Amino acid sequence: MIVAADPKAARIVADFPILSTTTSRGKRLVYLDSAASSQKPRAVIDKLVDYYENYNANIHRGVYEIAARATDAFEEARAKVARFVNAADTAEIIWTRNTTEAINLVSFSWGLYNLAPGDAILTTQLEHHSNLVPWQLLAEKTGAELRYVPSDAQGNLVLDRLDDLLEGVKLVALAHVSNTIGSIAPLEIIIPRAHAAGAIVLLDAAQSVPHMPVDVQALDVDFLAASGHKMCGPTGIGFLYGKRALLEAMPPFLTGGDMIKRVSYETTSFNELPWKFEAGTSNIADAIALGAAVDYLGEIGRSAAAARTAWPAGVRAAPRRGSRRRDLVQLRRHPRPRPGLDPRHRGRLRPRRPPLHDAADGKDGLARDRPRVVLPLQHRRRRRRARRSARKSSAGLRDRIASAQWTTSTKNTFWTTTGIRGTLGISIASMRAPRISTHSAAIRSRWSLRSTATTA
Ligand SMILES: Cc1ncc(COP(=O)(O)O)c(C=O)c1O
Repeated sequence: MIVAADPKAARIVADFPILSTTTSRGKRLVYLDSAASSQKPRAVIDKLVDYYENYNANIHRGVYEIAARATDAFEEARAKVARFVNAADTAEIIWTRNTTEAINLVSFSWGLYNLAPGDAILTTQLEHHSNLVPWQLLAEKTGAELRYVPSDAQGNLVLDRLDDLLEGVKLVALAHVSNTIGSIAPLEIIIPRAHAAGAIVLLDAAQSVPHMPVDVQALDVDFLAASGHKMCGPTGIGFLYGKRALLEAMPPFLTGGDMIKRVSYETTSFNELPWKFEAGTSNIADAIALGAAVDYLGEIGRSAAAARTAWPAGVRAAPRRGSRRRDLVQLRRHPRPRPGLDPRHRGRLRPRRPPLHDAADGKDGLARDRPRVVLPLQHRRRRRRARRSARKSSAGLRDRIASAQWTTSTKNTFWTTTGIRGTLGISIASMRAPRISTHSAAIRSRWSLRSTATTA
């Protein structure tokens, strides 16, 4: 239940059109899943519409008025993001689709050329799959070893053996804020020690950038990855920050148009930073709208965003009990369960979850003590019904895309058909979303056959 206790909170709620809509139960929408994807304020939505309605054109190539306007807005958004994370140079910000793509960029473009057997990659036990799977595959390809900083039962990293773990490590990749438990990595300890051991550091800032000031120069990170959709911006846009010297030394990730300076039949020279890493037509509208999101977060202040976050109990960053998080969400303690019995599972015996200690309060915070939103039975039934009907209505769309895979542009063919680099793709603008293309099953299978033949 949103109770907008103070006028500033009320103003913030009013900025988000979706928060004045109602659910299928006729209740005002309450949204608590911002860690997965945040809602968008009016300013961001308007910026998207403004681009499509008033200056929709490709960038970096046209000499007519709206093309110049689009190019300026696109590059201005990059400058805003650079200022947002305090990058020394705007060219150190590379647009990507999201955090995942930014991490993959580093894995392919830096990792494949800098790691060999005998080297190691260090990550932690608290990572999102986006910051784990790329390193598993990179270790497999290069023969490097993958190591993990362990975490304790409270979700804090255990650094006792950090120096041993850093032996031979070339890359440390870790999340700033854990997406599951919300714990904040002690970067002030890890980054200097990683550098002293000769490693570079990639920070997965997907969960931190929307909530707290993040200064890449003060932290001295080498790479930082983030997603627009978690910071009040659109989906399909994110960014990679990289120190200029590292980015300069790296080969391009994806290749094709826009990332080139000169092309002849024999050779190609690559564009300057940041465009060297932005092959094909970029996600222009969403980048511009992410600029508006950055402005918005700057206006409300990221500490205000953090204060209005319902952090889970037991988290180092959680506001103290009795703080404003209770203004936003009415929390009720769950009745104390009998030992080993979870009342949510109709008497079935289930193993108890490991205890969580409330580090913020220094109290024992067993799982049973964690706050939980309890809905009355009739609400739960209605919710189940709404879910069922949502599943039905999405079935049609699912059928239409069953044989297709979304890509941001034809340049990403690389990701959709294993092992195939190329520029296939059929525009399906008529199907649903703007500037998204796909491959038909027919083409995919033709190419799979061809690639199988080639491999054989
Ligand atoms: C910590 C963290 N890293 C990476 C990601 C992946 O973000 P995206 O799906 O936008 O690439 C997430 C998403 O939840 C996340 O929480």
